[in-house]
Amino acid sequence: MKEQLENIKIKALNEIEASNTLREIEDIRVKYLGKKGELTAVLKSMKNLSKEERPVIGQVANEVREVLEENLKNKKSDLEKLEQDKKLLEEIIDITLPAKKMTIGKMYPLDKTLEELSNIFIGMGYEIVSGREVETGYYNFDALNLGKEHPARDEQDTFYITNNIMLRTATSPVQIHTMESQSLPIRMIAPGKVYRSDEVDATHSPVFHQVEGLVIDENITFGDLKGVLAEFAKKFFGDKVKVKFRPHYFPFTEPSAEVDVTCVMCGGVGCSICKNEGFIEILGCGMVHPRVLEMAGIDSTKYQGFAFGMGVERLTMLKYNINDLRLFYENDIRFLEQF
Ligand code: DAH
Repeated sequence: MKEQLENIKIKALNEIEASNTLREIEDIRVKYLGKKGELTAVLKSMKNLSKEERPVIGQVANEVREVLEENLKNKKSDLEKLEQDKKLLEEIIDITLPAKKMTIGKMYPLDKTLEELSNIFIGMGYEIVSGREVETGYYNFDALNLGKEHPARDEQDTFYITNNIMLRTATSPVQIHTMESQSLPIRMIAPGKVYRSDEVDATHSPVFHQVEGLVIDENITFGDLKGVLAEFAKKFFGDKVKVKFRPHYFPFTEPSAEVDVTCVMCGGVGCSICKNEGFIEILGCGMVHPRVLEMAGIDSTKYQGFAFGMGVERLTMLKYNINDLRLFYENDIRFLEQF
C-alpha cells in the first residue's frame, strides 16, 4: 500500500507539473483528492489494515495528501499569475503615444463685441431688453416719427411680409415697446438682429446687428448723452480715443448727432480707412423727439431722454481692423480663430 501511495504521488506530481490551465489543475484535484479520487480510495481502504500498519500507512497517506495539496496550490497560483500577465500584456497602453489634441473654441467675434457692449452699459446701470424681429409699420416707422412718405419705407429697402408687417430695419422699435410697457425712469440697451434689403458686399449685409440705447428720466440733457457715449467709446476703443459729436438728422431725435472717434487705424493723422479725415463715424444718437415721447404716452413736458443706435459689425470691424463684413458670416475657422 505504501508503494501504491508513492505511485499516486509520483503520477499526480507529474500531472500537476505538466498542467497548463486552471481547468486541468481542478481536474487533477478531483481525480486524486475528490470524493471518488484515487488517494481518497486508498485512505478509505485503510480500515482493512492491521492495527500496527494503520498509523504507519496513515502517516504516509497524509504526507502524500499534503504534498499534493501544496503542489496543486502552488501550480494554481503560478497559472493565475501567468494568466494575469497575459491579460495585462494584451491590454497594454502605450503611454508614449502623443495625446489627442484638445481644441478649445473661440468666442464668435460679434458675440464678443455684444458681451463687451453689454458689460460697459450694465456697468453704467443699464438694463438689457430684447425686442422682436418682426414688427408692424407702427413700431418700425410711425411711432419713430417716420411718416408715410419717408424713404426708409420704400419697398426696395425693407423686407415686407404684408403691407403692414415687416422685418425690423433697426433696433429702434424696441424704444417704443419699452416706453409703452415699462415704468419710468428707463435706462436700457437692446441688442439684436436687423434686416435691410441690401446687396451683400464688403460693408453691407441683409442681416446685421445693432445695439439700441434709451434713457428717459426727468432733467436729462444733451450733456448726459455726451457723457455716456464718450465714456462708452473710451471703454470700448481705449482711453486715447477722441470723440466728436457731429450734428445730424434722425426723425426720432431732436437735436440729433452722429458720433465719430479718432481713426483706429491712423490714430487721427488720416489714412485710406478714414478717407483722410482722421475720424470715423460709430453711431447715431440724439434727444428723443417730444412727439415720439407723446406717442408712447410719456409727458414730454416732464420727461426727456436720449437714444442711440450702433452697428455691432461696424464697431467690431473698426476695433479689430477687419476690412470685409462678409468674413463674419462665412464661418472660416482661420478668421474666427483670431479672436
Ligand atoms: N436707427 C438708426 C439707424 O438704424 C440708428 C439710430 C440713430 C438709433 C439715432 C437711435 C438714434 O436711437 O437716436 O441708422
